[in-house]
Amino acid sequence: MKKDLFGKALLDYQNNHYTEDLITSTNISDEDELPLPYLFRNFKEMPKLEQKALQLSKGKVLDVGCGSGSHSLYLQEKGLDIKAIDISKGAIKVAKQRGVLQAELKNLLDETETFDTILLLMNGTGIFQELSQVAAYLIHLKSLINQNGQILIDSSDIKYMYEDEDGGLWVDTNANYYGELDYFLSYKNEEEEPMKWLYLDFDTLKLACESVGLKCTKISEGSHFDYLAKLT
Ligand SMILES: C[S@@+](CC[C@H](N)C(=O)[O-])C[C@H]1O[C@@H](n2cnc3c(N)ncnc32)[C@H](O)[C@@H]1O
Repeated sequence: MKKDLFGKALLDYQNNHYTEDLITSTNISDEDELPLPYLFRNFKEMPKLEQKALQLSKGKVLDVGCGSGSHSLYLQEKGLDIKAIDISKGAIKVAKQRGVLQAELKNLLDETETFDTILLLMNGTGIFQELSQVAAYLIHLKSLINQNGQILIDSSDIKYMYEDEDGGLWVDTNANYYGELDYFLSYKNEEEEPMKWLYLDFDTLKLACESVGLKCTKISEGSHFDYLAKLT
């Protein structure tokens, strides 16, 4: 996130300079708007899967890739001890402005404290970037959970994105895993450096978890191939 356009957009919204939304696209999909108000959602406006993750949160919590801090704020208000991290400078600035007490500019891989609950929400597996890196991220996450701790993460099986009008699939089985996307972001006529963003179907996540000694259970399913998983 070299230009931190995501952070810029969050800062604009927070400081009442909201004039346009973020534009996203991927190597397999056209441009789409990501409405800035959605990134400032309150509990009622959150998808059921996120609400469920917040309800299951306990003890000392780490919110990974906190964005504007919406999940952290909810838990903080409920009295939980919550730390929020993000690699976006703008996001951390906004999270602090909104009142998140412990918000730090930090990459998940540089985190060393331990927690009872670790949250990765809004396609939490995206942060792993590509299938080949999943095990390394999971091993690191495992080192950050206390005994009886949990990691709550959401993602989707995006196979449907490869469906043509007749319902046929055009997944190239010789290519990389189908959930590995190139993700493009633009804001106010500026383009961010392309990023890699990973969607993992539940079975692939479960296999990866088992390979590093984590138990993976599906907590609930959303309405559109999305799910919340608990890793212990
Ligand atoms: C899709 S946004 C989700 C934001 C927030 N969780 C929400 O639900 O509104 C993903 C966030 O993860 C952050 N991120 C990406 N890679 C990260 C990493 N390795 N460590 C910490 N944060 C990361 C991005 O900067 C971005 O703010």
